Amino acid sequence: MNLADLNKIALAMVTPGKGILAADESSGTIKKRFDAIKVESTEQSRRDYREMLFRSSEAMTSYISGVILTEETLEQKAADGTPFAQLFQESDVIPGIKVDRGAFPMPGDSGEKITEGLDGLRQRLERYASLGAGFAKWRAVITINDVAPTRNNIRANAHALARYAILCQEAGIVPVVEPEVVGDGDPGNHSMERCAQVTGDVLENTFKELRLAGVELSGMLLKPNMVLPGVNSRERPSFEEVARRTVEVLREHVPAAVPGIAFLSGGQTDEEATAHLSAMNQISGKPWPMTFSYGRALQNVALRTWAGRRENFPQAQAAFTHRAHMNSLAALGTWTGELDRAA
Ligand code: 13P
Repeated sequence: MNLADLNKIALAMVTPGKGILAADESSGTIKKRFDAIKVESTEQSRRDYREMLFRSSEAMTSYISGVILTEETLEQKAADGTPFAQLFQESDVIPGIKVDRGAFPMPGDSGEKITEGLDGLRQRLERYASLGAGFAKWRAVITINDVAPTRNNIRANAHALARYAILCQEAGIVPVVEPEVVGDGDPGNHSMERCAQVTGDVLENTFKELRLAGVELSGMLLKPNMVLPGVNSRERPSFEEVARRTVEVLREHVPAAVPGIAFLSGGQTDEEATAHLSAMNQISGKPWPMTFSYGRALQNVALRTWAGRRENFPQAQAAFTHRAHMNSLAALGTWTGELDRAA
């Protein structure tokens, strides 16, 4: 493992004003997204949709540092035969790959999930590195309900994240460590304060396992959730409150040696995800740059505008570029709602 190289990639991914496009929807998830716009999910429709995103040259050149791909997309070509890898090179975007095999029910009846995909991962990572992947992603899902999260589930997920992360570093790939506390717990259990407490606990355990596994913190990135009330909660904290509480929890549990933090959007509206990020970046004295690694919050409007048709590429690309631009401003802490709506 060359730590200097890993650190260089990690820092490039959090270049000021740039963030990550998560385009690694699994076959089930992309089908769900396409169903909503009545488009059949085929290899060709997935290729077309992602080609639309990757050929948004202004967004890709100015606002996006890295793209998370699925295995299918990593090796795919645009309709005219240009490898996607070439498009990334031309816009100086680092390709990355989702390497987990999904979150499956945890044994027992706590309603929790454990992420699978460690078997054979060392060999797969070698192949992804040879195909040009600079980073990888593994998502752990932490549930909040009456009995969850359990200690057992937090430990099992943290341990898997650490096993994945050290294998990535051995292969010369930057691990993006994603422990996501998901927001769909029922309202009685999922207040903002409970999310803060669970997020802190999960991060504490994750970094403990990362250290035990020998993961070099300067050669990784963290992809956390923000501290938010559950989606069914009646709490309505301001953007500033979410920002303040999230930064507080991260400061307490994330070592300063981590080169950067790139948040997931986790079902927030486009504007919420942007506003929260911008508010966090207005808080001074943080030890790490904070940016976005959004899937839905970057793609929602572009997906609907595309609607399965290549002739809609220009309008869909304009929508994606606008969202990427707004999140770029948020990564710098200079976004405003007026600016967003004026466009
Ligand atoms: P969302 O921003 O849509 O939550 O997706 C990001 C991601 O990569 C989740 O693993």
